[in-house]
Amino acid sequence: MEKILEVKNLVVEYPLKSGILDFKVSKSGISRLRPVVHAVNDVSFSIKQGEVFALVGESGCGKSTVAKAIVKLIDKKSGQILFRGDETSAENQDSLNEFRRNIQMIFQDPYSSLNPRQKVKDIIGEPIAYHRIRPNKASVLQLVSELMEKVGLSNEMMERYPHQFSGGQRQRIGIARALSMNPSLIIADEPVSALDVSIQAQILNLLMDLKDEFNLSILMIAHDLSVVKHISDRIGIMYLGKIVESGEKDQIFAEPKHPYTRALFSAIPIIEDTNPYDPIEIIGEVPSARMLPSGCFYHTRCPLADEKCIAMHPELVDIDDDHFVSCYHWQKQF
Ligand SMILES: Nc1ncnc2c1ncn2[C@@H]1O[C@H](COP(=O)(O)OP(=O)(O)OP(=O)(O)O)[C@@H](O)[C@H]1O
Ligand SMILES: [Mg+2]
Repeated sequence: MEKILEVKNLVVEYPLKSGILDFKVSKSGISRLRPVVHAVNDVSFSIKQGEVFALVGESGCGKSTVAKAIVKLIDKKSGQILFRGDETSAENQDSLNEFRRNIQMIFQDPYSSLNPRQKVKDIIGEPIAYHRIRPNKASVLQLVSELMEKVGLSNEMMERYPHQFSGGQRQRIGIARALSMNPSLIIADEPVSALDVSIQAQILNLLMDLKDEFNLSILMIAHDLSVVKHISDRIGIMYLGKIVESGEKDQIFAEPKHPYTRALFSAIPIIEDTNPYDPIEIIGEVPSARMLPSGCFYHTRCPLADEKCIAMHPELVDIDDDHFVSCYHWQKQF
């Protein structure tokens, strides 16, 4: 299957203003340190045509930063982002436009991502006109109307403003706007975490139906494993800007191997049944992304950590048919 997107060794840092204590004393004198947030630290993954790849991890682990770097909303420090095998250069405006059209984002908070002063027909219609997807006003409106129906909104609602919709309906507007570009890949950054649980399933089901109908690939970002359980094909688990485990969804759900993944699984709330995963407490807090730990970033919280984990970072290794784990002790029980 063709790879739609390849992210290779992505590193992203956010510069911070240096504070009064950010200096270094050395033989040659005092020099200022440039403090940075190490948001994404060498992340690699790929998404195949028609696949749903989920990036999962706690708040602050760098999921949105990966998404923003892919769509070039922020600059990467190093690494490569290949769309259908090619790296899009920021200098070539035509290929950049084509790239931007092909990869569409859906955001967590549908309210803040929609202009409150625009009617829905303009929210969905403006990018269609801008990218000349339809030649004239009437045909733009026709497409807006078709897209609204595709996402389950009546086209009579196109004269309304965003505040006249519910949260779930607003997310449908965001999806229609993304679809209007006829994209190959949709990046959905926590698309349902702001919605009521009852509405979450409707929106996820809608995305899955549209994926089939429009032959989309999806990068799904979530902090909640239960959200990705039914809809993803493969999963990458992130911790402090790194992927610590990745693989087929079924394999990861059946046999989570990294101690962090196992802890995340043991915390999934399950209503009817008891949680099949052993209860594991995560000790302490996530370290700051300004001062990354030595060795394995998880060692400060890991019940299995030993001296090796403190000294060296474990590579992501393939332990079984595309099931990757970055841990020296993945075979140990605890
Ligand atoms: N503009 C910014 N300037 C400085 N630091 C930032 C900026 N945006 C994000 N960060 C930091 O980068 C790290 C990764 O943030 P990011 O938003 O990518 O995480 P996330 O996994 O999407 O979290 P959440 O689940 O809360 O959305 C965090 O430590 C965050 O505080
Ligand atoms: Mg985020």
